[in-house]
Amino acid sequence: MKIFDSVATKLDIREFSDKEVPKDIKLRVLEAARLSSSGINSQHWRFILVQSKEGLKKLAEDSTTGKWVANSNFAVMVLTNPKYNFHLIDAGRVAQNMQLVAWEEGVASCVFTGIKEELLRKDFNIPNDLYPAIVVGFGYPKRKIKGRKNRKPIDELVFIEKYGNKFDRDKL
Ligand SMILES: Cc1cc2nc3c(=O)[nH]c(=O)nc-3n(C[C@H](O)[C@H](O)[C@H](O)COP(=O)(O)O)c2cc1C
Repeated sequence: MKIFDSVATKLDIREFSDKEVPKDIKLRVLEAARLSSSGINSQHWRFILVQSKEGLKKLAEDSTTGKWVANSNFAVMVLTNPKYNFHLIDAGRVAQNMQLVAWEEGVASCVFTGIKEELLRKDFNIPNDLYPAIVVGFGYPKRKIKGRKNRKPIDELVFIEKYGNKFDRDKL
């Protein structure tokens, strides 16, 4: 799959089948995380792979907006260091890279950011200097994915040269 097609077709999916994601795909997703770029190449992030049923259940319990993760096949928690003012940008980029690489292999995913921080920290032994920025849950989709993305049109989002200048395909 071309990268553009992966971006264009990936939807955030919250319902997963029971089918196991093979080891090599899991490793590929983790490699995508490791190989991502971070501000000043600080690689301040650390990742927790959660793949046991109990771990995924706990992760769901410790979330406010990610209960669906209990039924994922595995999840990756992205921890970032808030001393870098760009740490959340790094978290978003690494999450997206993992999602796109997974989707290239037919593995769907979704992210969540709503957490019960104190509980999550305790349950997953998260050190104080790292912040649980985002969690990505992965698995094969439960149903066939169909439907289009619900996105604003390009001319509502893009301006040319200065904010307010109307986008025009003929001017590209
Ligand atoms: C930064 C960020 C935070 C998100 N947080 C949550 C979340 O807490 N829980 C959740 O179920 N989905 C979360 N999502 C998923 C979004 O709801 C989803 O990307 C958006 O609705 C577009 O979905 P689509 O790509 O399937 O059209 C988050 C997405 C992003 C990019």
